[in-house]
Amino acid sequence: MKIGLTFDLKSEYIKMGLSPEEAAEFDREETIEEIEKTLQDLGYETERVGHIFALVEALSCGKRWDLVFNIAEGRFGYSRESQIPALLMAYQIPCVFSHPLLLSVAMHKAICKQILINYNIATPKFAVVSKIEDINNVKLEYPLFVKPIAEGTSKGIHPNSKVENFDDLKRACQYVLDEFDQPALVERYLPGREFTVGFVGSGKDTEVIACMEVLVMDKSHAGVYTYEAKEYSEEKVRYELTEDSDAQKAIKVALDAYKALECKDGGRVDVRLNENGEANFIEINPLPGLHYSHSDLPIMASLKGIDFKTLLGKIINSARKRYNI
Ligand SMILES: Nc1ncnc2c1ncn2[C@@H]1O[C@H](COP(=O)(O)OP(=O)(O)O)[C@@H](O)[C@H]1O
Ligand SMILES: [Mg+2]
Repeated sequence: MKIGLTFDLKSEYIKMGLSPEEAAEFDREETIEEIEKTLQDLGYETERVGHIFALVEALSCGKRWDLVFNIAEGRFGYSRESQIPALLMAYQIPCVFSHPLLLSVAMHKAICKQILINYNIATPKFAVVSKIEDINNVKLEYPLFVKPIAEGTSKGIHPNSKVENFDDLKRACQYVLDEFDQPALVERYLPGREFTVGFVGSGKDTEVIACMEVLVMDKSHAGVYTYEAKEYSEEKVRYELTEDSDAQKAIKVALDAYKALECKDGGRVDVRLNENGEANFIEINPLPGLHYSHSDLPIMASLKGIDFKTLLGKIINSARKRYNI
């Protein structure tokens, strides 16, 4: 069985002139290498394809694969993670991970939250600031949290994303509007413990890999999993598997969200406790980072005794089952 690999390589985009923060979501060479090697260890033939432009060229030359393992984050717009899966769908080539529809919905954090509210899944009250005047319509109680509406890897998230008053709210929203050229999502600040819950599988076969507490050790980050904390996680963050009663609440919210959104093959849901100790959905990652030792899902799997090969095997097997291949 031949598996095509699609991905966005960080170094290629930095060569094109992107800053390290702009290229933060893209993958390192070693991530691709490790996935490729692991798929080969699992007995698959692999072929590196690369980014969407390389895929277009390969398709137009008549190349086809039994399955594509796609981790490309894409570059432009709310549907950037959906572009490769949607293109493959047009060619009826099976692709690992969620439907392009979910990949777009999950990217737009406000739309995603609105859907989950309809399923009665707890998530902080929010407002969307599309232009700076919109801050006058924010009728939420402080403290608040301000972040780009559609980014990942904690881009645009810094200790001052938490705001205590109108002036700071204005400053934080202006920063998002200027730097990210997209609306700011303003949410009630969740002061409690943070968990990330990892999954593999789809529908009734969904399996919780683990619930991992994220402990940001560097006090200057005010307990927030900031861009810098994520980038230097080896020094700044402690990860601990937990199964205590707070973790059970986090797993319930995360699993409800994973199922409501029909997430496929694998993913991660971020959860934090509110001031009453209730678990709240923060966001879903239907295309979870897969660096074997730096990304949250492989980290929690390995803490749980599930090695990278077994993890990828579970993801691939879920896709094969869905497509009956
Ligand atoms: N409403 C909130 N209250 C408190 N902290 C938050 C809130 N939203 C996000 N955060 C913090 O910011 C981090 C990144 O936010 P998240 O929405 O997960 O962005 P990303 O998609 O970049 O991972 C979270 O892991 C958490 O530490
Ligand atoms: Mg997150």
